[in-house]
Amino acid sequence: MRLDGKVAVVTGSGRGIGRAYAMALAAAGCAVVVNDVDADVAQTTVDEITGAGARAVAEVCAVGSSEAADRLVARAVEAFERIDIMCTNAGILRDRVLWNMTDEEFDSVIETHLRGTFTCARAAVRRMREQGGGGRVIVVSSIAGQRGNFGQTNYSAAKAGIAAFARTWAMECAKHSITVNAIVPNAITRMISTIPGMAPLVEAAERGEPLPTMVRQQMGMGTAEDVAPLLVFLCSDAAAEVTGQCIGLGGDKLSLWAHPREISVAYRDGGWTADAIEAVWSSSVGAQPETYGIPFLGK
Ligand SMILES: NC(=O)c1ccc[n+]([C@@H]2O[C@H](COP(=O)([O-])OP(=O)(O)OC[C@H]3O[C@@H](n4cnc5c(N)ncnc54)[C@H](O)[C@@H]3O)[C@@H](O)[C@H]2O)c1
Repeated sequence: MRLDGKVAVVTGSGRGIGRAYAMALAAAGCAVVVNDVDADVAQTTVDEITGAGARAVAEVCAVGSSEAADRLVARAVEAFERIDIMCTNAGILRDRVLWNMTDEEFDSVIETHLRGTFTCARAAVRRMREQGGGGRVIVVSSIAGQRGNFGQTNYSAAKAGIAAFARTWAMECAKHSITVNAIVPNAITRMISTIPGMAPLVEAAERGEPLPTMVRQQMGMGTAEDVAPLLVFLCSDAAAEVTGQCIGLGGDKLSLWAHPREISVAYRDGGWTADAIEAVWSSSVGAQPETYGIPFLGK
């Protein structure tokens, strides 16, 4: 699948899944602005892309602020004359159970993920509207954002908000032929090594051991490179009609996430009292409460 002549910004693409996104876009013919807060890893990704004969430049900054977002879009325009794709992948974890989480831990995750996605998408869409010809915004959610996850107050809220961005922006951007989708990735990277139970998998992957089928299929978890084809597809003409979706990819498992919807309703003439709710709860609306949490991590 080719993306020749397209120009992309991928935030946080010095390592992990972002690096795999940048490499895959470049291999498909796209010019890439490689962003990371870490200059060394950003330059390494650029060197690998240009070494393979494709086009890339580095722009080192911490996403979050409007200034950083504007710099990224300006860099794409200066280096490659336009922007067609904005992929807001940069991220951090600061896990802590609710009652121990500090304001700094909460704010830094919201700043990078939620504000960083907002500012980068806004800057890109402003430029795409001026240019004409449409575009692609690919935001990055998480299973934690869809389901909640122990110790991830800040991260699960940011990632749920990002899924909501995709649904809202898909509506707002449709008439400009700009699609907006959220990837829900699952890959063995340094980010997940701090999640309880994940360290042995990360170490096995670092030793280059093949992942068991149970991990690749039931857990839906694989390498960073396993996720990148979904970004290439979403950026292609083949996906021109795909928008407002949350799409999972990890290991061997490609999936479509449901959006929240009412699954059980009841009506009462004149409205409800607390006693009336109690009277019907366990036989009606509350008869099958929803599950929460990530099945393979437990609660
Ligand atoms: N690994 C997974 O299974 C998984 C699951 C769900 C969601 N995600 C999401 O995918 C994205 C990539 O995750 P990863 O596992 O590759 O992580 P990673 O830690 O391997 O890579 C993240 C990169 O982002 C950079 N970064 C951090 N803050 C930044 C900032 N403010 N500005 C610019 N760059 C910044 C880091 O330096 C790093 O190179 C994140 O948004 C993450 O939340 C990952």
